[in-house]
Amino acid sequence: TTGGSDDAKRRAGESAAGLVLDGMVVGLGTGSTAAHAIRALGRKVDAGLDVRGVPTSFASRQLARDAGIPLTTLDEVDAVDIAIDGADQVAEFDLVKGGGAAHAREKVVDAFADRFVVVADPSKVAETLSHPVPVELLPDARSTVAAAVGDAGGAPTLREAECKDGPVVTDNGNFVLDCEFGDITDTTALSRTLSSIPGVVEHGLFVGLADEIHVGTDDGVDVRTR
Ligand code: A5P
Repeated sequence: TTGGSDDAKRRAGESAAGLVLDGMVVGLGTGSTAAHAIRALGRKVDAGLDVRGVPTSFASRQLARDAGIPLTTLDEVDAVDIAIDGADQVAEFDLVKGGGAAHAREKVVDAFADRFVVVADPSKVAETLSHPVPVELLPDARSTVAAAVGDAGGAPTLREAECKDGPVVTDNGNFVLDCEFGDITDTTALSRTLSSIPGVVEHGLFVGLADEIHVGTDDGVDVRTR
């Protein structure tokens, strides 16, 4: 859990869940804001809505199971109608994601979805992205990727686990470097640079993927559509 009030996150999550219609395949994002959307969707399933969810992490899979949402995988569907996912920072329609180390699967599902709806609270919204960019990498490539991130102007820090000694290990068995770049003015260029580093599995810059941003406020939801 990061950022602002849980009420604002809940309003955003419920607003996005309200977009889900009968028969849809839904990408289920990761994090405390997406969790509100998953719980809201579960209540709609309880009330008779027919949907199938594609989880983006072990955590969202578990939450969806608990909420009673039938699950499927990308292998079994022709399309994902809508994906609902949180973000660590939002500037216009560009995002930094990966605070929960789930950004690799999130990017696969969110990018594939016909409609990608971001849910956030106001603490996430910025004019320019400046949040450290999480980079998931093969453990053996830790030093070479760190050096390449440094060459690209970033300052990488290996993410350490809180409940165990040593690094965070992702759902995919990899490590995460949190890479500080200061203000990211050219998101497209940095996205391409990070993607081109051998050993990088996926980075948390989501450029040109979001279709809609739902920001929960004190008393409602601000919706921005591309
Ligand atoms: C998971 O890896 C992230 O991309 C999350 O979507 C992001 O950290 C948002 O989480 P919160 O909604 O808890 O802030």
